[in-house]
Amino acid sequence: MKKIVVLLSGRGSNLQAILSAKLPCQIVAVISNREDAAGLKIAQAHGISTVVVQHNYYADRASFDAALAKEIDRFTPDVIALTGFMRILTADFVDRYLGKLINIHPSLLPSYTGINTHARVIQDGVKIHGCSVHFVTPTLDAGPIIIQAAVPVLHDDTVETLSCRVLQEEHRIYPQAIHWICREQVWMDAEGRVANNRLEQPGAPLISPGLS
Ligand code: GAR
Repeated sequence: MKKIVVLLSGRGSNLQAILSAKLPCQIVAVISNREDAAGLKIAQAHGISTVVVQHNYYADRASFDAALAKEIDRFTPDVIALTGFMRILTADFVDRYLGKLINIHPSLLPSYTGINTHARVIQDGVKIHGCSVHFVTPTLDAGPIIIQAAVPVLHDDTVETLSCRVLQEEHRIYPQAIHWICREQVWMDAEGRVANNRLEQPGAPLISPGLS
C-alpha cells in the first residue's frame, strides 16, 4: 500500500476528504509549518503521526525546506500531498520529490496562480472558475495537471460563497487524483507530462450562466 505524507498549514478539510474517501493508501504523517493548524487535530483524531516544522524558526527557505525534507524522509512516503500548504518551496526541495509531490490549487490553472484566487476571479467577472490537482514543479502552480473541476461563478457571489462551491469540488477531485496515483493509473513521465493507463471518462460541459 502506498504511503502518503500530507503537508498543510490550516483547516484540513482536504485532509478530511482524503481520509473519508478510504483510499487504498496509508496517510503515514501530517506535517505543518504552523502548530495551530486545525488539520493537525484531524490527523491526531485518526491516529496519524503529526509533525510541526515552524517556518519562522529558520533563517531562510533553504534551511526550512531542508528541515522539512528531513522530517518527510523519516516516513519514506511514495506521495507527498500538499493540501493548503502555504509556503513556497525551493527548487531543490521540489526536485528531490519530483513526480511524488502533488498539490491542490483553487483555480482552473494555468489561470489564477498564487493567492486570493476567488477574489480575483470575482473582480475579473469570470463566469467559470474551479480547482486543479497537479504535480508540483519548481515554477509555482505550473506543474502538469492531473484533474480539474469547474464551477459557475454567480453574479452575486462573494469570496465566501464561491470558495465554498470550489471547495466542494476540491473534496471530490483530490481523493480521485490520489486514488489514481496509488493504483499507478496516473504518473508524471520523464518529459514532465501527466501519463495514464486508465480508461478516460469525459467530464460534462459547463456553460455559465446557463442557456435559457
Ligand atoms: C484549499 O482551498 C486549497 O485549494 C488551498 O488552500 C485551501 C486549504 O483548505 N490551497 C492553496 O491556495 C494553495 N496555493 P483545507 O486546509 O481546508 O484543505
